[in-house]
This record gives sequence, structure tokens and C-alpha cells, in this order.
Amino acid sequence: MYWESIMQLPLGPQTPAFVQLTRWIFSPMSFMDECVRRFGDMYTVNLGKNNPNLVFVSNPQALQQMLTQDTRADFHAPGDRNGLLKTLLGDNSVICLSGSQHQRQRQLMMPPFHSDRMRTYSQVINQVTTETLARVQIGQTFDVRKTTQAITLRVIMQAVFGLNRGERAERLAHLLSQLLDRSGSPLSVSMLYFPILQQEWGGISPWAIQMRVQRAVDALIYAEIAERRTHPDSSRTDILSLLMAAQDEAGESMTDVELRDELMTLLVAGHETTATALAWALYWLHKLPAVRDKLVAELDGLGAEPDVNAIIKAPYLEAVCNETLRIYPVGMLTLPRVSLKSVTLAGREIPPETTILGSIYSTHQRADLYPQPQEFRPERFLERKFSTFEFLPFGSGARRCIGSAFAMMELKLALAKILSRWELELVDKRDIHPKRRGLVTAPERPIQLLVKSQRSASDLHPAQAIDRGAFA
Ligand code: HEM
Repeated sequence: MYWESIMQLPLGPQTPAFVQLTRWIFSPMSFMDECVRRFGDMYTVNLGKNNPNLVFVSNPQALQQMLTQDTRADFHAPGDRNGLLKTLLGDNSVICLSGSQHQRQRQLMMPPFHSDRMRTYSQVINQVTTETLARVQIGQTFDVRKTTQAITLRVIMQAVFGLNRGERAERLAHLLSQLLDRSGSPLSVSMLYFPILQQEWGGISPWAIQMRVQRAVDALIYAEIAERRTHPDSSRTDILSLLMAAQDEAGESMTDVELRDELMTLLVAGHETTATALAWALYWLHKLPAVRDKLVAELDGLGAEPDVNAIIKAPYLEAVCNETLRIYPVGMLTLPRVSLKSVTLAGREIPPETTILGSIYSTHQRADLYPQPQEFRPERFLERKFSTFEFLPFGSGARRCIGSAFAMMELKLALAKILSRWELELVDKRDIHPKRRGLVTAPERPIQLLVKSQRSASDLHPAQAIDRGAFA
């Protein structure tokens, strides 16, 4: 019976699981490119005992069928398949919950990300971007991803806790960066795939160090929760306050552990992803001066102090952000979906209980949708409209990213601020490709930008330039 099911699966590489897993960990994108070339837009990979038959899909019709049916009869989106994230995010993270519990938790977490409430974060995004860039003197270079990460971390901390300064915020920012830097290495990814490597060995192993940092982060989050419980303030609008006030149908509020897991989820999911996208956008804009000039002209046309709405609606800026998320999507795959019964997907029979992952990366590389897919060309988003299953940097369906509008707003406002304030230049003009960083992707080597001059300084209060902030 087992073999019968396996036989039905789409073809895929036949190399030993260990070889496939090694390629998946160390060079996921070239692994997927090769699989698509050999087996087409639906194939099966074997990543070992815990993940023996994973079907990767980059066929838009199949993606549509799977992602519109993922809470219905054919598929589901079980949280227990996201076990790799459990260690960091916890059992109660929305990403690790399933079924009605998952839907309830999503509903609880969505309101802070609705567009009207999000506008309140626009000021923070502008201020933090200005302050962070103002630390770099004219003539100096800076590491783009580190800088964009400093920006997005402070922004998400403001959204989640309503604070991005002060001793606890500083310490949390420092520890979170350390935690994500550590979990980004191939060794850390290997530790997730091979539980045998998850040993503390007297506190000196890489795992032990990672766990120590994680416990320190947890202690700070719990301290913040405890303080809020002792001194409730109904006027606060940050996400922690909203989650603390929320109750389920039985009138139960979230426990401290549940709160911790959701806060950690938002802090982790909500800043590194956007930081990487922002870094790529800056890379492409300075790699391709014609694209940059066109965008600067559009932004200049909005006036000296453009309204947030005008920036968000600027068509070329939107196209640049979309093309950035298309060419090297930060999330290579959707979260897993599982077939509940035997289903026909793009003409192929998929047995019940098959784990299927939407390959966002391979879908965005389809030459039939995106001619010369390796070329960065924002105009393609002005020339035609892509469906949700042809362009899906934030996934779709039951687990569609809850921070997508937040991330797009942050990308647009930060880019508009940087381009209108500074004249920057790429130090090293050679191509930079993506590589794995933890469970997402990032540039293979640091992108360095030189600050050539300032275009305007109208919105930078002199005190802000001197106050180098808490996150130097
Ligand atoms: C450029 C930035 C981002 C990208 C590319 C991105 C991408 C993704 C993707 C691909 C998924 C899986 C979707 C699926 O399986 O269908 C996802 C899920 C998720 N994202 Fe994002 N994301 C970004 C920013 C954010 C931000 C800013 C937040 C929150 C503040 C966030 C929170 C989440 C959460 C909580 C989930 C899980 C949803 C669930 O399990 O129901 N993400 N994201």
C-alpha cells in the first residue's frame, strides 16, 4: 500500500536522501532550478526520515487549486508540519497551530495589520530610517543588510511592544539580532534537520549557545508581559496590548506562554524578511542606475513632503518592490499543505497525506510568465497583471502572510525616504546572488553602499542626527 502511494508521486531526484538534504541546505535555489529543468513544475524530493516525500509545486493552476482549497475537503495546512520553527517560536505560535485554533489565532492577530491602524507606524518607519542612515557620514560605506535589519527591527519592536528605545528594548534588539544571525548559518539549519545535533554538551555546543541566547530573549519578553499585567494601560495600541485584551468565545485571555510565542513569531517573521527585501531593493536600484533614476523622478514628482498615501500608491515604486520580491523571494517556499485524500493536481494523482510545498522561487522564475526571469525589470509589473498564483511572495490561502501589507508599506516608505534623502553608490559592482540564511534567503555576501552626498535634510532635526539612538 505504502509503495503504491509512493509510486503515484511525481518524479524527482533519485539520489540518496542525504545528498538531496545536503543540496537543499547548502544550495536550495540551484537544487530547485535543476529539479525543474529535469522534472518540470511538480516533483518529489526526499529529505530524509522526517521528510521522505515532499512534493514541490511551481505550476500556477496547481498552486491555485491547493491554496484555495487548503481549509476545505482536499487539503489542509497543518501547523505540526512546521516543526522546524517550533524550537524558536514555540508550540503556541500561529505558525505551529492547526485547524480552528489556527484560524482563531489569526483572527486575533490580524487587526493590528489592517491598513488604517498600520498608518500609525508610518511615522516610526520614517523616523527610524532617517535616524539609522544619519549615522553614516558622507564618504563612508555601510553594510546594507545590517542597516536595513536595524531599521526593521526597531520598527517591528515599536509595532509589537510600542517601544523601540530604553534598556530592555536595546537588550532585546541586541539579543534578537544575535539569535537570528546564529540561526541563519547552515550549521544551525542542519541542527534543525538533524535533532541529534541538538545537544547542549555541557553548555559549550553551538546548540547550547543558541539556547542560552533564546532563554535570554524569552526572559525579556516575559518581563515586558509581567510589567504590562501589573500596570495595564488601556490607551496603548501596540500589538501586545491588543493581544492581552483579546478573549476567546469562552472569555479566556491568552496565557503568558501563548503571548510569548506570538510575540516571538511577529518579531522573527516580521523583521528579517523585510530587512532582506529592503537590502535587495537597494542593491538593484544602485546596480541599475536607469531604474533608480526613474524611481527618483517619480518620488520627486510627489513633492517635498509627500503624503504616505501618495508614496504607497506610486506605481513605479510598487513595481520595483514587486520585482524585488519576485526575482529573489525572501521566502523560497510556502508553508506546507497536506492532501487529505487522493487528489488530482495539474493532471497528476497525489496520494492522501502527501506534504506539498508551493515553490515561490521556481514560480517566479518561470520564463512563460516572466521572460528573461534573471533580469530585474520592474516594468513587467506595469505591462501586465499577475494572478495571486503567478506572483506570490507572501503565499496565499489559509497561511497567507499576515504581515504582507505591513512589509510592503515599510519597504515603500523606507525606500522613498532613503532615495529622497541620500545619493548612494554601490561599492562593488559585481553581481550578488542569493543564498540560504536560516529558513529564508539573503544576499550571498555583504552589499556595501557608499554615501556620496545628501539630497535634502529638511526632515532631519539636528538633534536626531546627533542622537545616535539606542541601536548603534
Ligand atoms: C518581505 C517581507 C515578508 C515576506 C516575503 C513574507 C513571506 C511569508 C510567506 C511566504 C509566508 C507563508 C505563506 C503561505 O504558506 O501561504 C508567510 C507567513 C507568515 N508571515 Fe510573512 N513575510 C514577510 C513579512 C512579514 C511580516 C512583516 C510579518 C509580521 C509582522 C509576517 C508574519 C507572518 C506570519 C505570522 C506568517 C504565518 C501565518 C500563518 O501561519 O497563518 N511576515 N510570510
